[in-house]
Amino acid sequence: MTNEALGEGCSGTKGRAGWTREQASRIERTDDTVAPIVYPPQTEQIPEVHIWDTWFLRNRDGTLATVDGYRVCFSLTAPSDLLPGKRHDVATIRCFYSDDGRNWHNAGPVFEEPLGQRQWAGSALYDDDGSVYLFYTAAGEEGAEDLTYTQRIVGAGGGSIETADEFELCGPWTHHELLQPDGDRYEREDQSRRMIYTFRDPWFFEDPETGETWLLFEANTPVPEGSDVCGGDDALQEFNGSVGIARSPTGDPLAWELEDPLLDAVGVNQELERPHVVYRDGLYYLFISSHLHTFAPGLEGFDALYGFVAEDLRGDYVPLNESGLVATNPENAPFQSYSWMAFLHGDEVLVQSFFNYYDFDGETLDEIAHLSESEQMRRFGGSLGPTLRLEVEGSRTRIIGSLGHWHIPLDGETLPLTDRELIRRGKH
Ligand code: FRU
Repeated sequence: MTNEALGEGCSGTKGRAGWTREQASRIERTDDTVAPIVYPPQTEQIPEVHIWDTWFLRNRDGTLATVDGYRVCFSLTAPSDLLPGKRHDVATIRCFYSDDGRNWHNAGPVFEEPLGQRQWAGSALYDDDGSVYLFYTAAGEEGAEDLTYTQRIVGAGGGSIETADEFELCGPWTHHELLQPDGDRYEREDQSRRMIYTFRDPWFFEDPETGETWLLFEANTPVPEGSDVCGGDDALQEFNGSVGIARSPTGDPLAWELEDPLLDAVGVNQELERPHVVYRDGLYYLFISSHLHTFAPGLEGFDALYGFVAEDLRGDYVPLNESGLVATNPENAPFQSYSWMAFLHGDEVLVQSFFNYYDFDGETLDEIAHLSESEQMRRFGGSLGPTLRLEVEGSRTRIIGSLGHWHIPLDGETLPLTDRELIRRGKH
């Protein structure tokens, strides 16, 4: 296909950074981007619930927090006897903690009365004074009889952590609706054309260079019918994912103003999920997760972690590895992991994700949803997967190994030599 046929001009319209069809057409599995196969853990750490999207309590500067020796994380959860496909309808945020970065304990549901019918992904801030804030997506309207798909970005304040007896995350929490789509920069539910719109997954970020405080989120760019973007091709325009951003002028975690998206993918992909930034060596690495089935017609992508790099937070992002692909699943286990989250451990970039569907026989996710209930249950991981190790240099990345399921190293923990390092040492 020529660049023109690929519709290179769809994204990055209005002067913002964009993921173009031309770039996305280069997506292919390589040795550097395919994660090792994941096998189920020998013992399930939290057998009573399925967990999927997970985020760590972080300090304002983005580093993972350690509170009196504990690592703390938050996950979307559902009872483990529920059919995995139904989990998004009942998602509840639970807190987990660990004093060794390997064995995790369930601190229970975080909220008594959250907003929304159910809660979708977010992030968590351990502020300088020890207070805890949770940012999450309120999905559906509380009180509505049927399940609805409205998404609002909410901040909960009032949290603190007690560790005198045993670990406890305490309230009382107050819930504040922070952001709704404006219909201009960010698509509202009534503007979306085909697939469901997105306005979710808030992620707190303080820019180390400017000190400014930001909230990133997953969104869509409105593309009115009859618009001439993507050469007026309706079928492409329906795929309009973006990475949204809001700024807190005072640094207050509960007061935000919408700004123009950081990047969009009009004509490329509908869902740029769980956007987050890792700042390293003076560069801003912007990561998102996306699905095989949310790429626009004419493009082939995977369930994968994708990334971009720029010199400023609002810079002109270029895709990592030329296409954007950073980490994906092996071809014979294409849905084994999802919802990747990158973070720094010293100088190394680690990536955590959840263990999704495994033991594949070439089915699509849709086909899996039609297997017998016991088969669907049997093939769903529903726990935190192995942590990937990523070598990052400029706009190139390479998977160099992995740690165990749920292994999130403590500060200063020395990681084992990678296979590559072992081989190199063996040669000397
Ligand atoms: C990604 C995701 C998130 C959303 C959550 C809902 O796995 O789609 O964007 O918050 O799942 O369960």
